[in-house]
Amino acid sequence: MSTAQQTTLDVAALRSDFPILQTSVHGKPLVYFDSAASSQRPQAVIDAMVAMEQRHYANVHRGVHWLSDRATEHYESAREKVRGFIQARHAHEVIFTSGTTAAINLVARSWGDANLNPGDEILVTVMEHHSNLVPWQQLAERTGAVIRAMDIDDRGHLLIDSIDDLLTERTKLVAVSAVSNVLGTVNSLEEIIAKAHAAGAVVLVDAAQSVPHMATDVQQLGVDFLAFSGHKMCGPSGIGVLYGREALLEAMPPFLGGGSMISNVEIDRFTPGVLPAKFEAGTPPIVAAAGLGAAVDYLQAVGVDRIHVHEQQLASRAREVLSAEGDIRFLSDGSAEQAGIVSFVVDGLQSLDLAQVLDQHGVAIRAGHHCTMPLHKRLGISSSARASFYLYNTVEEIDQFAASMAAARKFLKRGVGRSSTPSKTQ
Ligand code: ALA
Repeated sequence: MSTAQQTTLDVAALRSDFPILQTSVHGKPLVYFDSAASSQRPQAVIDAMVAMEQRHYANVHRGVHWLSDRATEHYESAREKVRGFIQARHAHEVIFTSGTTAAINLVARSWGDANLNPGDEILVTVMEHHSNLVPWQQLAERTGAVIRAMDIDDRGHLLIDSIDDLLTERTKLVAVSAVSNVLGTVNSLEEIIAKAHAAGAVVLVDAAQSVPHMATDVQQLGVDFLAFSGHKMCGPSGIGVLYGREALLEAMPPFLGGGSMISNVEIDRFTPGVLPAKFEAGTPPIVAAAGLGAAVDYLQAVGVDRIHVHEQQLASRAREVLSAEGDIRFLSDGSAEQAGIVSFVVDGLQSLDLAQVLDQHGVAIRAGHHCTMPLHKRLGISSSARASFYLYNTVEEIDQFAASMAAARKFLKRGVGRSSTPSKTQ
């Protein structure tokens, strides 16, 4: 099948938007299959940040001067763009953080500390990224709450029916990823959210791997909190988003204290400011916000639904060509809705060795536990290799990846490969 038959995206044109894709690695054209870790940025995003630096930069929400007003306009315009992108009702339900991790920690520290008591339950899944596990473990340590987890089946799908038994009258929070960063499985959020709400629990969705790749409508989902990062959606690192339902955010105490988040301060007390400032203490990521706003514009112009279809085609193709050798185990079977993430182990090979040899061929994948140690333990492995795709990847790159995999197998199975070294990808 030709690329044109497989996708409605003009990938060649899109690729020309991303300067870094012209890079050669070890003399080979870069094949960037690590977008689940961090995506690349189009020129439009780079330009927006440069323009901010060169022409519009000052601190926001502080100055009475012209430049501060311009910077504030750009910063708030980025918030409005994000609001539209996720279909939030109000711009003040969009809190800028430093990333998904910070957004989840904010909820754990603010909402969690205020609402959880000893014996209360937090329901997660075994496929969660450490960012959507450790903050809840810390919360449980502070409050005496208990963590329970939904399991997966042998195909890598969430055992969604188990939620009926796992939800109890003590469940205060369900924290679940929209898309697993390892399995690539797309979880049935509507069902999870409906059941959690029926049980009286609040739902936080880790959307780091979904918002960049598929349409998100927080009102239609009815989700309470949703967290994602700029750097996985063609935007810069250092900025992320916490969406929260207005009523919940209004009731939550501020987490970080400092400038901007107050309406009044006395020597021994303060009164919090209004949303969203209440949760944005200190000087925020002003330049990164301009980049994130441009990334939203870019993704909307391309169409996230088309991106999702394109990535699914690439993932299917990868499974097909990688299966040819018969020595590969995929961590999920790809039979349900999948994102553009394919993780695997190859019989007799260390994932890190494989990734290092692929790097010599210009192919960038991730190897390690991908911040999901409980999932890897559940699967009976300590590490895996992961190829993850985005709008700028092509079928030809998948074929180049498969050819490099064949060469890597040959090289490593001859026993001349480097011995396993500790994972750099903790
Ligand atoms: N969360 C990122 C990943 O899955 C870093 O690779």
